[in-house]
Amino acid sequence: MRVEGMGLVERLGLELQAPLDPDLPAVWYRGSAPGKRIGDRGGSLEVAIAFPGEDPIHRCDRIGTVPATLTAYLLCRRFKPDLLVNAGTCGGFQRAGASVGDIYVAGRDLLFHDRRIPLPHFDEFGVGRIPAATVPSHLSRSIDASPGVISTGDSFTPTSEEEAFFAAEDVCCKEMEAATIAGLSRDLGIPFLAVKAVTDLVDHPEPEQDAFQRNLEHVSERLQDRLAVLLGHL
Ligand code: ADE
Repeated sequence: MRVEGMGLVERLGLELQAPLDPDLPAVWYRGSAPGKRIGDRGGSLEVAIAFPGEDPIHRCDRIGTVPATLTAYLLCRRFKPDLLVNAGTCGGFQRAGASVGDIYVAGRDLLFHDRRIPLPHFDEFGVGRIPAATVPSHLSRSIDASPGVISTGDSFTPTSEEEAFFAAEDVCCKEMEAATIAGLSRDLGIPFLAVKAVTDLVDHPEPEQDAFQRNLEHVSERLQDRLAVLLGHL
């Protein structure tokens, strides 16, 4: 969602680019950011940030796996990044010790919790189980992030079957994009990092959507503060 990243776009002074595809609402911004001084790179990073954009019919941001994959694919073909980062918000779990505002990076695997296909081979294809790259500890420490299993699905509220899946797989972050972008990154051979900030607790009596709406703006600001720090370490 644009609210999860437009503050960083503005802070870095990135510029709006011509559409990734003239028939899609996806938007992307490009510019430079201060990075680590390495060799002849002079401490500057080329940065692009893309969003799937606003659905012209429903007048809300396009969220979920299909717009995320399409936008990330078009961005990778256009911008050819050395590192693809999927940053956004997630539901966390009290069972895993999470609180609103906590930051996670993908650890162990990225899963899909809503692709139930009880057929040989397709069952594990459905779950995805895409290995997460090990994030160097100085990077996760720099943004005070913990590694955790991320699980992706296209619904905001979980079924009881999905709740059982979260417990069995030790899921720490439930969200709607990371695993599909991780799969795309694997196909394209681009290193991938997911950074997620907790807006709501899935295993809390309060409905996720209420906490999400209350916390989205301030947690997104916190996430973007951390992303700015992370860029300085790349
Ligand atoms: N993004 C933020 N919180 C979420 C949740 N509980 N489920 C899915 N996506 C989310």
